This record gives sequence, structure tokens and C-alpha cells, in this order.
Amino acid sequence: MRAYGSGQLLKDVHMKKNKSGHGTISRRGFLQGLGAGAGAAGVLTPGTLAKLPPATQGAASAAVREIELRINGRRRRVRVEPRVTLLDAMRERLRVTGPKRVCDRGECGACTVFLDGRPVYACMVLAVDAAGHAIETVENFGTPKRLTRLQREFVEHDAQQCGFCTPGFVTAATALLRRRPRPSDAEIQSALSGNLCRCGTYPKLLAAVRVASRPARRSQSAASSPGKQHKQR
Ligand code: FES
Ligand code: FES
Repeated sequence: MRAYGSGQLLKDVHMKKNKSGHGTISRRGFLQGLGAGAGAAGVLTPGTLAKLPPATQGAASAAVREIELRINGRRRRVRVEPRVTLLDAMRERLRVTGPKRVCDRGECGACTVFLDGRPVYACMVLAVDAAGHAIETVENFGTPKRLTRLQREFVEHDAQQCGFCTPGFVTAATALLRRRPRPSDAEIQSALSGNLCRCGTYPKLLAAVRVASRPARRSQSAASSPGKQHKQR
């Protein structure tokens, strides 16, 4: 399987290619595909549903599906309309709030998660397309008491500032280090190019990932492999 950094991912999302065969359909493309008749799905909310004529209500309700999402090793059932993104299904319905909604249009990387081991923007994946696939979020990487090596270096280098962009950067950097444990600076910059920080923390981010990719000193535990399945908080 081809491994992706978020920078590569961004290009692929904009090209609307589906290289792995699942999970990369944009909402815009999906709604265009549905055509005008199904466009109503894009504005379907509990409030608008209640105002529809009974016959229409039935048709709209029929669009709601119960799906199973495998998030951080747990099977979670959720009822969603086809328009709902993976990001909204996780945040709004399952309380998995590590991935953040910032731009909600595939530009900032704050919502980055792993889908079958590959980093994707959760705001650009429909929940129904993610059903049956392995989803991993930043909640699975470490805990406040047991940070991963990368997370510790983020702290040491003051690489994280706000709670909006940091989870996405940690996820994108984790994807890089899993794929390439000793990346060059150019590879780190490329892997993080799909994530945006408006505050200019990039030099510190680069330093944190660079140090995290080096052999740990004796005093540091080897917790750089964040593959454990932690209970979600
Ligand atoms: S919130 Fe998904 S890319 Fe910005
Ligand atoms: S620290 Fe979050 S946007 Fe810059």
C-alpha cells in the first residue's frame, strides 16, 4: 500500500482520486453525483425534517442509515444521513473530539485521522464510506501520563500552541514516522505541508519531529511507536 503524508493527501483530495478504492469522495462530489433531486439531503436536519410533508419525511428518513465505525479498535454504531462526514459523525455523534473541525473543506489538516493506516482529512470523507474500515485518531497515540516520544518532543520544543491545529500536526507527523522512521528535513516539511498553523510554529514543529526521529537517550522510554489501543476518553 502506498503511504501518504498529509501533503500528498491534500493533492489527492483536490484531484478527487480514489487511489485506495475507498474513503476519498468529497462531499461536493458526492452531492453533485446525487443530482438536484437528492440535493435536499444536503440541508436535511431534524428541524427541516419535521417541516416536510409526511410522504417526504418517510423518504428522507429512509436515507438515514445505521453504520458501524471502527474507531481506535472499538466498534461504534451510529445513525447518519449519507451527507454526514466522518469528522461530524465522530465529533458530534460519538464524542471523539481529538480531530478538530477548523476549515471543514480539506485545507487545514486539523481533522487528520488514519483510515486503514493512511492519513486522510476526516472532513473530506463521508461517514458511510468509512464504515468497515479501521479509523485511528490522536486519542489512540498516547495519554497525558504516557505521551508518545513525538508528543513529548512537541512539548519539549514548544511546538504545540493551540488545541485546533496540534492534533492534526501530531497525526501527520506520526504518519510520517511510522512510514519513515528517520526522515530528512525535506521529508518532514513535505509530510506536514497539508497542515496549517497560522502562528508560524513551523521551525519548532520541524525540530520536534527531527528529534523524535533520532534514537532516544537512555533516560527516555521508547514510546515512539503509538500503536497501542487505548480506551477513548
Ligand atoms: S477541518 Fe478538515 S482539513 Fe480543515
Ligand atoms: S498554533 Fe494552532 S494555528 Fe498556530
